[in-house]
Amino acid sequence: MADSKSNFQPVKLFNYKGHNLSGIHTIERLDQMENNEVRDSDIFVVTYPKSGTIWMQNIMMYICMDGDLHTGESNPTYCEAPWLELSIKEINTDNRPSPRLFVTHLPYQLIPKALKNKKSKVIYVYRNPKDVAVSYYHFHKFANYLETPENLAAFLHSFLNGQVDYDSWFDHIKNWYNHRYEFNIMFQSFEEMIMDLKTAVLKFSSFLGRSLDNKSVDLIVERSTFKNMKSNPKSNYESAGFPNFDKSVAEFMRKGIVGDWKNHFTVPQNEMFNTIFQERMKDFPLKFIWEISD
Ligand code: A3P
Repeated sequence: MADSKSNFQPVKLFNYKGHNLSGIHTIERLDQMENNEVRDSDIFVVTYPKSGTIWMQNIMMYICMDGDLHTGESNPTYCEAPWLELSIKEINTDNRPSPRLFVTHLPYQLIPKALKNKKSKVIYVYRNPKDVAVSYYHFHKFANYLETPENLAAFLHSFLNGQVDYDSWFDHIKNWYNHRYEFNIMFQSFEEMIMDLKTAVLKFSSFLGRSLDNKSVDLIVERSTFKNMKSNPKSNYESAGFPNFDKSVAEFMRKGIVGDWKNHFTVPQNEMFNTIFQERMKDFPLKFIWEISD
């Protein structure tokens, strides 16, 4: 496994304005962020890594497709809902017609100032951090620009200390949540999407002011199931052929379940995680779903 990444040199994390970021970022693009143009009609999906970003790209793209949803051929989701902070040449986002969709993992402090206009819509999707950590651990083996952790214990140490791309999970969600009044924002849990995707799709479309008929909602749900996205190269990034990912090791559509941490954490690791979580998330009002009983 290590060999498959050996022809690529991951760059260590660097500190940008107090945040840990990986070598996939350029200072030039990050510097543009603060004053990046934002339209009132823009829609932003904000996530910490491994919290369902590619799932949301798919759902949001279909919600915004109107009539084409039933007839048209869709573009790959990463073109329809590109990454705000990554300037990838093929994805020149600026001239797209409204509403433009974006996804971002940026911490609150680095997002464009103009997003605080309270008109652009923001959806923050959060996932229980034990599953985020497990998914992120696997992602580190798969993403060539990230150093492969020695083992889960080593990765958990980095994760809990915010020594990972996009910094601390705790700070990310707390900062976005504590500044929620500055935005036109809704919060959605990944696990509730797993439990009832149709209700989540209805919530998103209502937040975006788009009324969808029942048939469209059902179609979006069907096209956004784990199984269907996994087999659709336009939804699962396979058609992108990005050099940054080593498909022989893992993939974006890995398991898509709630509670996979139970298959990975040892009892002491779980206890340590709980202690840190309770300390860092004391008084935080959003509730997390750690497992789903059958
Ligand atoms: P796992 O690694 O736990 O399987 P991101 O897009 O932010 O990188 O998040 C990736 C995670 O979301 C992966 O988690 C992936 O399997 C999961 N995911 C993506 N699409 C999904 C879907 N349609 N249903 C359930 N989980 C999905």
